[in-house]
Amino acid sequence: MKIKYLGHAAFYFENSDFRAVLDPFLSGNAQAKTSPDDLSKIDYIFVTHGHGDHLGDTIEIAKKNNSTVITNAEIASYLRKQGLNTHPMHIGGRTKFDFGIVKMTPALHGSGIDTPEGMVYGGSPCGFVLDIDGKKIYHAGDTGLTMDMKLLEIENIDLAILPIGGNFTMDVEDAVRAVEFIKPKKVIPIHYDTFPVIKASPWDFKDMVKSTEVIILDIEDTYQL
Ligand code: NI
Ligand code: MN
Repeated sequence: MKIKYLGHAAFYFENSDFRAVLDPFLSGNAQAKTSPDDLSKIDYIFVTHGHGDHLGDTIEIAKKNNSTVITNAEIASYLRKQGLNTHPMHIGGRTKFDFGIVKMTPALHGSGIDTPEGMVYGGSPCGFVLDIDGKKIYHAGDTGLTMDMKLLEIENIDLAILPIGGNFTMDVEDAVRAVEFIKPKKVIPIHYDTFPVIKASPWDFKDMVKSTEVIILDIEDTYQL
């Protein structure tokens, strides 16, 4: 499967029969180079939580591509009211889709949806384990370090995608501990340098992680898993 980093926490996934984005925060991200208009035939959109830097351009992309949004039940309910196709899941749930298997994992964070009418309840934030083409990808979403991450070791994660920027999520030191808990084969650091308050060094992270390969992606870089 081809994986493309779109900046912040956003990814594009593609294989022979499936195209998806995860947390597509593009038009609001000054560093992003892909715009919602550049995306086509997006079958699925994964959304980890309701914050604007993750929900991002979901509504626009989903409407244009007739995508199905896979997210928690509360955000799914909100998006259904905007006319979108959704597949609601919740923490601990595992579901087989035509492209592979999705498990929703816990994240320790918030999930409110900031709307002009006020904050809409966005349920519990989450991460995803995507089991596609025989490879398991764990995208943590926004989260602090949790003991729950130790349970991910039994999933045999091929690629973990972890926030390192601090302030809103794990910082570099805690993300290193998360790698020790999860024991993935490879790890990609995300959610840093987008804003001054989450400035962090992926190179420090790479130096500190032992026994797992760290892959540092620039925005728009692709990685073949
Ligand atoms: Ni957040
Ligand atoms: Mn965030």
